[in-house]
Amino acid sequence: MSHKSELIFRYFDQTRNLYGNQLFLEAQIASDPVQNLDSLESFNASICNCLKCELGHTRSNFVFGVGNPNADIVFVGEAPGEKEDLIGEPFVGRAGKLLDKILAAINLSREDIYICNVIKCRPPKNRDPLPREVELCEPYLKTQLSLIKPKLIVALGRIAACTILRTKEPLKNLRNKTFKYEGIDLVVTYHPAALLRNPNFKIPAWEDFQMIRDKYLIQD
Ligand code: URA
Repeated sequence: MSHKSELIFRYFDQTRNLYGNQLFLEAQIASDPVQNLDSLESFNASICNCLKCELGHTRSNFVFGVGNPNADIVFVGEAPGEKEDLIGEPFVGRAGKLLDKILAAINLSREDIYICNVIKCRPPKNRDPLPREVELCEPYLKTQLSLIKPKLIVALGRIAACTILRTKEPLKNLRNKTFKYEGIDLVVTYHPAALLRNPNFKIPAWEDFQMIRDKYLIQD
Protein backbone atom coordinates (compact mmCIF):
# COMPACT_ATOMS: atom_id res chain seq x y z
CA MET A 1 0.00 0.00 0.00
CA SER A 2 1.32 3.48 -0.87
CA HIS A 3 2.05 6.01 1.88
CA LYS A 4 -0.89 8.16 0.70
CA SER A 5 -3.34 5.23 0.79
CA GLU A 6 -2.09 4.32 4.26
CA LEU A 7 -2.77 7.88 5.45
CA ILE A 8 -6.27 7.82 3.96
CA PHE A 9 -7.05 4.46 5.60
CA ARG A 10 -5.68 5.71 8.92
CA TYR A 11 -7.80 8.87 8.67
CA PHE A 12 -11.02 6.94 8.01
CA ASP A 13 -10.24 4.53 10.86
CA GLN A 14 -9.63 7.38 13.29
CA THR A 15 -12.73 9.24 12.10
CA ARG A 16 -14.88 6.12 12.47
CA ASN A 17 -13.54 5.52 15.99
CA LEU A 18 -14.34 9.10 16.96
CA TYR A 19 -17.58 9.82 15.16
CA GLY A 20 -19.01 6.45 14.11
CA ASN A 21 -20.07 6.13 10.52
CA GLN A 22 -20.83 9.84 10.07
CA LEU A 23 -17.85 11.01 8.03
CA PHE A 24 -16.56 14.58 7.97
CA LEU A 25 -15.96 14.80 4.26
CA GLU A 26 -15.81 18.61 4.13
CA ALA A 27 -12.66 18.43 6.28
CA GLN A 28 -11.07 16.29 3.57
CA ILE A 29 -12.01 18.80 0.92
CA ALA A 30 -10.90 21.98 2.75
CA SER A 31 -7.72 23.23 1.16
CA ASP A 32 -4.56 24.77 2.57
CA PRO A 33 -5.08 28.48 3.36
CA VAL A 34 -2.94 30.88 1.31
CA GLN A 35 -0.21 31.83 3.77
CA ASN A 36 1.17 35.33 4.26
CA LEU A 37 4.68 35.01 5.69
CA ASP A 38 5.47 38.75 6.01
CA SER A 39 5.21 38.69 9.82
CA LEU A 40 3.82 36.52 12.62
CA GLU A 41 0.72 38.73 12.68
CA SER A 42 0.01 38.42 8.98
CA PHE A 43 0.78 34.69 9.12
CA ASN A 44 -1.81 34.30 11.91
CA ALA A 45 -4.37 36.36 9.97
CA SER A 46 -3.85 34.20 6.90
CA ILE A 47 -4.34 30.82 8.64
CA CYS A 48 -6.73 31.55 11.53
CA ASN A 49 -9.77 30.28 9.63
CA CYS A 50 -8.03 26.97 8.86
CA LEU A 51 -10.38 24.03 8.25
CA LYS A 52 -7.78 21.48 7.20
CA CYS A 53 -8.84 19.03 9.90
CA GLU A 54 -11.99 18.36 11.90
CA LEU A 55 -10.74 20.41 14.89
CA GLY A 56 -11.49 23.52 12.82
CA HIS A 57 -15.16 22.57 12.99
CA THR A 58 -15.28 22.18 16.78
CA ARG A 59 -13.01 25.00 18.01
CA SER A 60 -14.25 28.32 19.42
CA ASN A 61 -10.97 30.07 18.56
CA PHE A 62 -7.81 29.30 16.64
CA VAL A 63 -4.99 29.62 19.22
CA PHE A 64 -2.00 30.84 17.23
CA GLY A 65 0.42 31.89 20.00
CA VAL A 66 1.45 35.01 21.93
CA GLY A 67 4.55 36.83 23.03
CA ASN A 68 7.62 38.52 21.67
CA PRO A 69 7.96 37.99 17.90
CA ASN A 70 11.76 38.25 18.34
CA ALA A 71 11.98 35.99 21.39
CA ASP A 72 15.12 33.95 22.07
CA ILE A 73 13.01 31.26 23.73
CA VAL A 74 9.81 29.66 22.44
CA PHE A 75 7.75 27.47 24.78
CA VAL A 76 5.67 24.85 22.99
CA GLY A 77 2.75 23.02 24.60
CA GLU A 78 0.53 20.31 23.27
CA ALA A 79 -2.79 21.91 22.29
CA PRO A 80 -5.22 24.49 23.64
CA GLY A 81 -7.45 23.47 26.55
CA GLU A 82 -10.96 24.69 27.31
CA LYS A 83 -10.03 28.17 28.55
CA GLU A 84 -7.47 28.71 25.78
CA ASP A 85 -10.09 27.74 23.20
CA LEU A 86 -12.55 30.26 24.64
CA ILE A 87 -10.05 33.12 24.93
CA GLY A 88 -7.87 32.36 21.90
CA GLU A 89 -4.55 32.48 23.81
CA PRO A 90 -2.28 29.65 24.92
CA PHE A 91 -1.70 28.83 28.60
CA VAL A 92 -4.30 31.12 30.16
CA GLY A 93 -5.71 28.54 32.62
CA ARG A 94 -4.28 27.29 35.94
CA ALA A 95 -1.30 25.66 34.23
CA GLY A 96 -0.54 28.96 32.47
CA LYS A 97 -0.62 30.88 35.76
CA LEU A 98 1.93 28.43 37.20
CA LEU A 99 4.08 28.80 34.07
CA ASP A 100 4.02 32.60 34.58
CA LYS A 101 5.29 32.12 38.16
CA ILE A 102 8.11 29.82 37.06
CA LEU A 103 9.08 32.27 34.31
CA ALA A 104 9.12 35.12 36.85
CA ALA A 105 11.48 33.05 39.03
CA ILE A 106 14.04 33.15 36.20
CA ASN A 107 13.31 36.83 35.51
CA LEU A 108 11.17 36.28 32.43
CA SER A 109 7.70 37.48 31.58
CA ARG A 110 5.39 36.70 28.66
CA GLU A 111 6.73 39.82 26.90
CA ASP A 112 10.21 38.26 26.79
CA ILE A 113 9.28 34.90 25.36
CA TYR A 114 6.89 33.36 22.84
CA ILE A 115 4.33 30.66 23.74
CA CYS A 116 2.38 28.45 21.37
CA ASN A 117 1.24 24.85 20.91
CA VAL A 118 1.95 22.13 18.38
CA ILE A 119 -1.79 21.98 17.62
CA LYS A 120 -3.63 25.27 17.21
CA CYS A 121 -7.21 24.12 17.86
CA ARG A 122 -8.60 22.37 20.94
CA PRO A 123 -9.13 18.63 20.57
CA PRO A 124 -12.62 17.76 21.91
CA LYS A 125 -12.53 16.88 25.64
CA ASN A 126 -8.76 17.60 25.58
CA ARG A 127 -7.97 14.21 24.04
CA ASP A 128 -4.46 13.67 22.67
CA PRO A 129 -3.97 15.04 19.14
CA LEU A 130 -4.34 12.46 16.37
CA PRO A 131 -1.43 11.75 14.01
CA ARG A 132 -3.35 13.30 11.12
CA GLU A 133 -3.96 16.50 13.12
CA VAL A 134 -0.26 16.73 13.94
CA GLU A 135 0.65 16.14 10.32
CA LEU A 136 -1.62 18.97 9.14
CA CYS A 137 -0.88 21.46 11.93
CA GLU A 138 2.85 21.04 12.63
CA PRO A 139 3.85 22.98 9.47
CA TYR A 140 2.29 26.07 11.13
CA LEU A 141 4.62 25.62 14.12
CA LYS A 142 7.61 25.25 11.78
CA THR A 143 6.68 28.48 9.99
CA GLN A 144 6.25 30.31 13.31
CA LEU A 145 9.74 29.18 14.32
CA SER A 146 11.21 30.27 10.98
CA LEU A 147 9.75 33.77 11.54
CA ILE A 148 10.79 34.06 15.23
CA LYS A 149 14.22 32.42 14.85
CA PRO A 150 14.65 31.60 18.57
CA LYS A 151 17.83 30.22 20.13
CA LEU A 152 15.91 27.66 22.17
CA ILE A 153 12.64 25.73 22.06
CA VAL A 154 11.29 24.37 25.34
CA ALA A 155 8.83 21.51 24.83
CA LEU A 156 6.36 21.45 27.72
CA GLY A 157 5.39 17.91 28.61
CA ARG A 158 5.63 14.45 27.13
CA ILE A 159 2.99 14.84 24.43
CA ALA A 160 4.49 18.04 22.99
CA ALA A 161 8.01 16.58 23.18
CA CYS A 162 7.12 13.16 21.75
CA THR A 163 5.09 14.72 18.94
CA ILE A 164 7.85 17.09 17.92
CA LEU A 165 10.67 14.58 18.33
CA ARG A 166 8.76 11.61 16.87
CA THR A 167 9.55 9.42 19.85
CA LYS A 168 7.66 7.38 22.44
CA GLU A 169 10.29 7.77 25.17
CA PRO A 170 9.05 8.64 28.66
CA LEU A 171 9.61 12.25 29.69
CA LYS A 172 12.32 11.34 32.20
CA ASN A 173 14.48 10.02 29.34
CA LEU A 174 14.06 13.27 27.39
CA ARG A 175 15.04 15.72 30.15
CA ASN A 176 18.63 16.89 30.58
CA LYS A 177 19.34 16.48 26.87
CA THR A 178 19.56 18.97 24.03
CA PHE A 179 17.83 17.98 20.80
CA LYS A 180 17.57 19.84 17.50
CA TYR A 181 14.27 20.78 15.84
CA GLU A 182 14.35 22.76 12.61
CA GLY A 183 18.04 23.39 13.39
CA ILE A 184 17.17 24.98 16.76
CA ASP A 185 18.19 23.68 20.22
CA LEU A 186 15.27 21.99 21.96
CA VAL A 187 14.99 20.91 25.59
CA VAL A 188 12.15 19.10 27.32
CA THR A 189 10.61 19.76 30.71
CA TYR A 190 7.40 18.94 32.58
CA HIS A 191 4.08 20.39 31.50
CA PRO A 192 2.95 22.87 34.18
CA ALA A 193 -0.33 20.91 34.48
CA ALA A 194 1.76 17.88 35.54
CA LEU A 195 3.33 20.01 38.28
CA LEU A 196 -0.15 20.91 39.52
CA ARG A 197 -1.11 17.24 39.60
CA ASN A 198 2.12 16.02 41.16
CA PRO A 199 4.08 18.54 43.25
CA ASN A 200 7.01 16.06 43.42
CA PHE A 201 7.85 17.14 39.87
CA LYS A 202 8.42 20.73 40.99
CA ILE A 203 12.03 20.22 42.09
CA PRO A 204 13.24 18.58 38.84
CA ALA A 205 11.24 21.15 36.83
CA TRP A 206 12.95 23.96 38.72
CA GLU A 207 16.32 22.36 37.85
CA ASP A 208 15.32 22.41 34.17
CA PHE A 209 14.40 26.11 34.33
CA GLN A 210 17.63 26.97 36.14
CA MET A 211 19.54 25.19 33.36
CA ILE A 212 17.59 27.22 30.78
CA ARG A 213 18.44 30.43 32.64
CA ASP A 214 22.13 29.59 33.05
CA LYS A 215 22.69 28.28 29.53
CA TYR A 216 20.47 30.56 27.45
CA LEU A 217 19.80 33.73 29.42
CA ILE A 218 22.84 34.74 31.44
CA GLN A 219 25.22 36.69 29.20
CA ASP A 220 28.58 37.95 30.40
N1 URA B 1 -1.94 22.98 27.83
C1 URA B 1 -1.24 23.10 26.68
O1 URA B 1 -0.47 22.22 26.31
N2 URA B 1 -1.40 24.23 25.99
C2 URA B 1 -2.18 25.23 26.39
O2 URA B 1 -2.26 26.23 25.67
C3 URA B 1 -2.89 25.06 27.58
C4 URA B 1 -2.75 23.93 28.30
